[in-house]
Amino acid sequence: MKTAVIYYSHHHGNTKKVLDAIAEQYPDVTLIDAAADPAVELSDYDLIGFASGIYFSQFHNTVLKLAQERLPEGKNVFLLYTCGVNQARYTKAIYDITDLKGAHMLGVYSCRGYDTFGPWKLLGGIAKGRPSQKDLNGALEFFQHLRERLEVNP
Ligand SMILES: Cc1cc2nc3c(=O)[nH]c(=O)nc-3n(C[C@H](O)[C@H](O)[C@H](O)COP(=O)(O)O)c2cc1C
Repeated sequence: MKTAVIYYSHHHGNTKKVLDAIAEQYPDVTLIDAAADPAVELSDYDLIGFASGIYFSQFHNTVLKLAQERLPEGKNVFLLYTCGVNQARYTKAIYDITDLKGAHMLGVYSCRGYDTFGPWKLLGGIAKGRPSQKDLNGALEFFQHLRERLEVNP
């Protein structure tokens, strides 16, 4: 199943670490850096993921912009993010965009990621050691279930 994941992961590479674990197991997954390839063509993909570290309570702007400009109508999509401190509202902006595009939202995976932004730096950062191996295993399980569901019910 041809899968693309559009991502932004620049703070500590936390999100990319999670995505690499998935891409290692699934050779048909292509990781696309939203900052490096903002005009990517997505119409050929069966499944599209949007992934990001959380920046000021939302997915990074480059991912939001790419979703707005490049996501074709009616695609199967999923979300994945890492953050310093988890809060459900982080997905609102990306949800709004995928909703407008009539996307089928298949699920969201999130975990904490090492965070040294602003005052946290003075404390040596928070969520040290995250994403952990357990986080990576959780992401793999999430992705496996998602793909199984799609294969049964495309
Ligand atoms: C400029 C900036 C803003 C951030 N804003 C938030 C935030 O609003 N909420 C949060 O939980 N984490 C926030 N973080 C922490 C990151 O979301 C977290 O470290 C994430 O794992 C970074 O992912 P990345 O390394 O893949 O970019 C922020 C980090 C930076 C650098």
